[in-house]
Amino acid sequence: MIPSEKVVPGDIEFSSKLAFYLNGTRIEINNPDPDTTLLQYVRSIGLTGTKLGCAEGGCGACTVMISSYELKSRKISHYSVNACLLPLCSVEGKHVITIEGIGNVKYPHPVQERIALLHGSQCGFCTPGIAMSLYVLLRNNPYPTEEEIEECFDGNLCRCTGYRPILDAAKTFAKPSSHQNNYEKEEKIIANDNLEDNKNVTCGRADCCKLRIDANGKIGSNKFPKVKFKEYDPSQELIFPPSLMNYIPVALNFSGRKTMWFRPINLNQLFYLKSKYPEAKLISGNTEVGIETKFKKMDYNVRIFVGDILELKTWEFQEDGLLIGANISLTKFQTILRDACKHYKSYQTQVFKALLFNLRWFAGNQIRNVATPAGNIVTGSPISDLNPIFLSTQTKFILTSLSSSSSSSKNSRDILATSFWTGYRQNCLDRIEILEKIFIPCSKLGQYVRAYKQAKRRDDDIAIVNSGLSIILDEKSIVQEASFAFGGMSGLCVRAPISENFVLGKFWGDEKVFMALLNKLSEELQLSFSSPGGMVAYRKSLVSGFMYKFWYDVSKCVGIKTSVSDEEVENFVGIIERQVSKGVQLIGQPNEDKKIVGKSIPAISALKQVTGEAIYVDDLPKQYGELYGALVLSQKAHAKIIKIDASIALEKSGVKGFFTAKDVPGDNKWGAVFRDEEIFASEEVHCVGQVIGLIVADTQAIAQEATNLVKVEYEVLPHILTIEEAIEKNSFYHIERRLSTGDVEKGFQEADFIFEGETRIGGQEHFYLETNAALVIPKPEDNEFEIHSSTQAPTAVQKDCASMLGIAANKVVCRVKRIGGGFGGKETRSIPLPLVLAVGAWHLKKPIRCMLDRDEDIIISGQRHPYLGRWKVGVSKEGKLLAYDLQLYGNMGWSCDLSLGVLERAITHVDNCYYCPNVRIIGKLCKTNIHSNTAFRGFGGPQGMMITENMMSEISDRLRIDPIEIREKNYYLEGQKTHFNQILTDWHIPALHQQIMELSDYVNRRKKVDDFNSKNKWRKRGLALIPTKFGLSFTVLHLNQAAALVHIYTDGSVLVSHGGVEMGQGLHTKMLQIAAETLDIPLENVHLMETATNLVINTSPTAASVSSDINGFAVFNACQTLSERLKPYREKMPGKSFKEIVLTAYLDRVNLSANGFYKTPDISHNWDKNEGQAFYYFTTGIACTEVEVDILTGDHTVIRTDLVMDIGRSLNYAIDVGQIEGAFVQGVGWCTIEETLHFPTGHIFTKGPGNYKIPGFRDIPQDFRIYTFNGKYSNLKTIHSSKGVGEPPLFLGSSVFFAIRDAIKAFRLANNNHKAVILCSPATPERIRLACEDEIVKKAHVQKKDDEKEWILAV
Ligand SMILES: Cc1cc2nc3c(=O)[nH]c(=O)nc-3n(C[C@H](O)[C@H](O)[C@H](O)COP(=O)(O)OP(=O)(O)OC[C@H]3O[C@@H](n4cnc5c(N)ncnc54)[C@H](O)[C@@H]3O)c2cc1C
Ligand code: FES
Ligand code: FES
Repeated sequence: MIPSEKVVPGDIEFSSKLAFYLNGTRIEINNPDPDTTLLQYVRSIGLTGTKLGCAEGGCGACTVMISSYELKSRKISHYSVNACLLPLCSVEGKHVITIEGIGNVKYPHPVQERIALLHGSQCGFCTPGIAMSLYVLLRNNPYPTEEEIEECFDGNLCRCTGYRPILDAAKTFAKPSSHQNNYEKEEKIIANDNLEDNKNVTCGRADCCKLRIDANGKIGSNKFPKVKFKEYDPSQELIFPPSLMNYIPVALNFSGRKTMWFRPINLNQLFYLKSKYPEAKLISGNTEVGIETKFKKMDYNVRIFVGDILELKTWEFQEDGLLIGANISLTKFQTILRDACKHYKSYQTQVFKALLFNLRWFAGNQIRNVATPAGNIVTGSPISDLNPIFLSTQTKFILTSLSSSSSSSKNSRDILATSFWTGYRQNCLDRIEILEKIFIPCSKLGQYVRAYKQAKRRDDDIAIVNSGLSIILDEKSIVQEASFAFGGMSGLCVRAPISENFVLGKFWGDEKVFMALLNKLSEELQLSFSSPGGMVAYRKSLVSGFMYKFWYDVSKCVGIKTSVSDEEVENFVGIIERQVSKGVQLIGQPNEDKKIVGKSIPAISALKQVTGEAIYVDDLPKQYGELYGALVLSQKAHAKIIKIDASIALEKSGVKGFFTAKDVPGDNKWGAVFRDEEIFASEEVHCVGQVIGLIVADTQAIAQEATNLVKVEYEVLPHILTIEEAIEKNSFYHIERRLSTGDVEKGFQEADFIFEGETRIGGQEHFYLETNAALVIPKPEDNEFEIHSSTQAPTAVQKDCASMLGIAANKVVCRVKRIGGGFGGKETRSIPLPLVLAVGAWHLKKPIRCMLDRDEDIIISGQRHPYLGRWKVGVSKEGKLLAYDLQLYGNMGWSCDLSLGVLERAITHVDNCYYCPNVRIIGKLCKTNIHSNTAFRGFGGPQGMMITENMMSEISDRLRIDPIEIREKNYYLEGQKTHFNQILTDWHIPALHQQIMELSDYVNRRKKVDDFNSKNKWRKRGLALIPTKFGLSFTVLHLNQAAALVHIYTDGSVLVSHGGVEMGQGLHTKMLQIAAETLDIPLENVHLMETATNLVINTSPTAASVSSDINGFAVFNACQTLSERLKPYREKMPGKSFKEIVLTAYLDRVNLSANGFYKTPDISHNWDKNEGQAFYYFTTGIACTEVEVDILTGDHTVIRTDLVMDIGRSLNYAIDVGQIEGAFVQGVGWCTIEETLHFPTGHIFTKGPGNYKIPGFRDIPQDFRIYTFNGKYSNLKTIHSSKGVGEPPLFLGSSVFFAIRDAIKAFRLANNNHKAVILCSPATPERIRLACEDEIVKKAHVQKKDDEKEWILAV
């Protein structure tokens, strides 16, 4: 037991020592700081495997396991938590296991080994968190089902992999499910020779059935190679520390820099403390308070942790309902509710089932494992997932406090949920009261209760609107009681009393009454055009949609016959359920003459990444004297800076300095192409988030607090945010791009039809899991600077840093070991952070580090450009393109950055795969006051192609010709010229089209989709086939060059360096494969340390999907040189080892170091003349996707995607398939759920995973089939005939968008709406629902009043 000491208050004995176990070792900390999170602590002691991705519980990168012993049940429970939200002080008496505790590179845990070997880790930043989620599942359930495995990841995100390989790896632990059998059966029909693929994954158990199949030697030649893993033996897991089983809890009290922490161990202590400190904040799961303190900057100086009070975690099945302690975890609550469903009679369980439904979609596992009903109720969020159900079901809250008259007696009162909340996040709790228990009544005979929730993403997302609907009917289905509660329709969850009263006494099955009820609800739950939360028409339509589902569901349950068949009702009243996902990867044949190149070797760092041993910038050990930098950012979209006053900040203890433009020793200007940005804004700010100053302090916490003390006075100037505003105000960048071919006017004259339209595409946040980070180390001796940066462009960092400091480039080295994802977002926007830190380091002569918080990163670093295309197209009556005229507008933000290049690529990609003889394009860049938009995977190409594909779809709508026919009819043919005058050779799109038609069984599936649609009014399926062509080369000529440096040491080991950065795309692995192949040595002999500007110089950024092409050739050339030098020795010394040969050559004074260089031949495009070859070659692909849309909510699921990609002869098929899947899923996110939004003030709204949703594990196609094309190439002169694959597949994600569009079209046609579908990207649930244009949507329309402004804007 921990020795305890007496502290205030009263006679409670408090200890000031925190004791717990960490990876099996006992830890004791004296008086820890209550503001420290578990994540901060473990990282501070060197356990850097646990990552920080968001600090708001939204990404799972920080997942660790907590084990605790429950005295009452004598059971050990293991649960995953988000260490970023969990206060360190709350782990007293528990066992914390981090990724380092389960295995290491030498002895990996089976979870780690399988994720690594099955290609489940790309950049690796998410991987430890993902491994921990799986680990926790196995600790609780060593033989999970595939469904349980998918569910265990609902609180984890990965931006690289597209999830399939992670799921495949995880499912090796699953017990085989019936689903798997169906899968195999289906495969026989669809892709006969692929059958063995599904059996290619072993579970690692000695008796694995799949191993037996392997033993029969049935593995095909065009599959990933067989992988054998360590057997999983649950008995070998780290034990729970026996001493913790005898742990006797003690009261704790800690005092930190700002905060005091109490941990009472029983209710009496809690009541006492709450009466003593009425303003104290109770802390339970900290999932709400953690967000308030971190992001809303709320200070709670006294905190009382209630998470270890057993009386608040009790439950009881009473005669008429369930009584639960208010602070049970939501996970436990789910278990209790499931038990209640078994305990009570079926009719009594309606409320419990409704709660279970919403809890399934409540956050992710890590949050549910610690968050509590009390936390949710007391917070009173208007979109709480529990409160609408409590509101509609007579749920009571028991509030208790210490009596003011006697310190030993308690006051308790019951209050109905309907009376508890009093306003926006306000309730009737007295200052010293706590919520002790919750009584949830059983449902009555004749009562029907349902819960509904619609969010942007189904997993781990807060509701847009949710509801709890309850009705009590008598035996004649006359309504006796009604309670309809909604969240998301006001500042608090509300009931709809007028509508409830309206149905009282009426027959539930009367369709006229139902229609009138919808009208009543619509009148009662009003929203104004500018209501907070936006999406007003959609929110109103959801209210009706939920009621629609409820009415039909209840009618069916009581046997009322409606105009809709029971089968159809069954189909639409629930949510869209998805199957366990599955996948096929049919890969091409590696070149037979190659030993290493072409093989599906796992990424060289995979095991390091999954064990947490891989080092990213913020994992670097602390330097001597290191300080932390925090940024002072502009809070205005456009303003003059009148005054900057940092005097108060500088007085704060621990602050070492404040730096602004005047402190820049050299040039304060930089720019990716044109030097149009200030490193520190000096006189004027042009967007919210522009850097004004840098605070340097001893710690991150002090530095960040001090930034809030810097006062900046502004004179506000008018600002422009959207493309439309920029067009209206003629706010364009001074350079534009034009391209034309043929005679557009003549084309229009010859056309049978001319159509005009507009396509709007939103931006996209990169959401790499590792935010921008840098560590700048000054070396005063020679005024040198060493910079560790998470950049895709080390040379640019080096060059700009030197110019800003006014020193030569040879004094600055930039090093990059690896980065946690980039996707273009770290090509240029990674540069300002190290520059800003370098100013501080210059003056203070101390190392300075900063890793941006997720919200800072999003605010500062720019996104994919939103685009608007205005087009006019002339077509023949058969649908042949004859001419189009296109105006393209990109929202570049406040500076040019790479926007011109992005525009050029958009222009050169608008043709996608379609020939049109007469084309005219004008591209303009809109200058606005948002962040500077930048490169993002595809670099404008996807925007260009999206505009054309929308145009093609509208042509199909208007001509009433099948979209596939229109597309196929217009495909380029071999030898035709693009609109930028490049002749297409090795053109395989028509062949790919034929393949996908067969592989996807398109014709039959089209019939099935049509059949489904004819039988279902409110559920529609859609099918789409979309091709892509992507040009490979930097559009800036000089960037198409690369160098490499290869050393052979006398022990035969080889060190390879090249100019590319490893960001998860497997570049280093491919480069080592090329080196080993060329030198004809085993892969183990070659090594790569880092990318550094003193190893390989003047490098191009790692971008444009050409890094393998150009660096690959550079490495090859260097190795060729060395091979040539060694050739005589190899010939002279047959049978001798490489080491012996090398040593002999060395003794013979042969240079064993070589530089390799490569520049891409043949390319040079002149924009003015529209001549010369723009791209070295094209990577092409095609995808066919089927979706199902829930018309009443706008929700959708991807049923199946088949994708064929022409990637030449891959250098590493596993890595390239990973790129295809990852890019596809990123593309799906771009055009479905990822919506970036701004407030009219210019502040970005979507600045973290809470509001900005990237696809999760259950957003990928349920059935995801990847095929690589085995083409013949006469003109492909790339390294080993491989093709760039990083960006090209992204656009194929739009097949989901067009399948959704197809489903909407089916619904509209069924309702006699033949107008062309106008659907902006992304197709969010809101946009899908509104595009249906049915009666419900029309009634939900909200009229804008003259003075009203939208609450939120798509820029
Ligand atoms: C990533 C993420 C996802 C989320 N997803 C959802 C979601 O899908 N749906 C949803 O509804 N919410 C969601 N939330 C919000 C939050 O998780 C819930 O509101 C949760 O129930 C809060 O519980 P907690 O124990 O963590 O509360 P805490 O943060 O510990 O406390 C919240 C408030 O409750 C008070 N409190 C706690 N216990 C008591 C008590 N016994 N008596 C009086 N006051 C008390 C605290 O003082 C504080 O004011 C999400 C949050 C995060 C971070
Ligand atoms: S860092 Fe904790 S969930 Fe993202
Ligand atoms: S590997 Fe998952 S985020 Fe990069």
